[in-house]
Amino acid sequence: MRQALKKACPHKRLRLPQALALPAGERSGQRRSVHPWCIWRKGIGAEAQDIAYHRAMSQTHFGFETVDEQEKARRVRGVFDSVASNYDLMNDLMSAGLHRWWKHYAITVAHPRPGDRVLDIAGGTGDLGLAFAPRVAPNGLVVHTDINEAMLREGRDRLLDQGLALPTLVCDAERLPFADSAFDIVTVAFGLRNMTHKELALQEMNRVLRPGGKLLVLEFSKVAPPLEKAYDWYSFNILPKLGKWVARDEASYRYLAESIRMHPDQETLKGMMREAGFGHVDVHNLSAGVTALHVGVKC
Ligand SMILES: C[S@@+](CC[C@H](N)C(=O)[O-])C[C@H]1O[C@@H](n2cnc3c(N)ncnc32)[C@H](O)[C@@H]1O
Repeated sequence: MRQALKKACPHKRLRLPQALALPAGERSGQRRSVHPWCIWRKGIGAEAQDIAYHRAMSQTHFGFETVDEQEKARRVRGVFDSVASNYDLMNDLMSAGLHRWWKHYAITVAHPRPGDRVLDIAGGTGDLGLAFAPRVAPNGLVVHTDINEAMLREGRDRLLDQGLALPTLVCDAERLPFADSAFDIVTVAFGLRNMTHKELALQEMNRVLRPGGKLLVLEFSKVAPPLEKAYDWYSFNILPKLGKWVARDEASYRYLAESIRMHPDQETLKGMMREAGFGHVDVHNLSAGVTALHVGVKC
């Protein structure tokens, strides 16, 4: 199917609708059209380099370690470069398939309608894009994005194999290359935890949503106290071993367990979303708080 799609349309480009793209002056060398099977890269302009320089001055956490902000971005990239090819298998093994149910729940709550414009941030291997696309058809749009090209390639190939050619863009959630109010729904599943400046990313998600639009943040959260001990034991003993045996990568799965512990709990994240401009935020605990779905409405 992938090859057939490429052959059928060797020169055509998918054009992002004009209304979605940033105005010309703010694009800093970005291209606005994209082959569905090529990955669109966002150009790094002088302003972005400035931001990167200033970010290098501050510290943050990578799992339980305190690191320079640039170092965190580099290490997060390393984690997802390393896990990309085994990502879907490991997700099923680690969660015993539960991640599928959590995502299905998020999509049900998002309640997409035909014609909706959906932005999936940190979309990785494309589970959400795959589920949204038929729901917004025939005239809607799903844009599949991630900062990591290896993850995006896995997702892009998987979507093409299913007959879906979605606009696919490498972009940083902290600097989204889209116009204000461009989307009806924005989603980020298991991505926010890895971002360095979560407040900035939430503000960007708010900016690109139209008034009345919804942000859905699906993320690991704080588990109910009676389950804490068992969950800790599983996270710090079983997860890294599974990573070692299946993906030959123990460190990335130790990072996963640590990054979950460092992520803001349900109430803190709700407060951050309110701060970022979401007038109404609901929290849905899933599987006793192992995961939480935060739904923010831009008022
Ligand atoms: C655990 S994966 C989630 C993939 C997919 N959403 C899912 O639920 O299966 C986390 C993703 O977040 C992406 N990510 C991390 N930091 C990001 C950022 N600043 N902007 C966009 N994506 C980011 C990673 O590259 C990775 O693909």
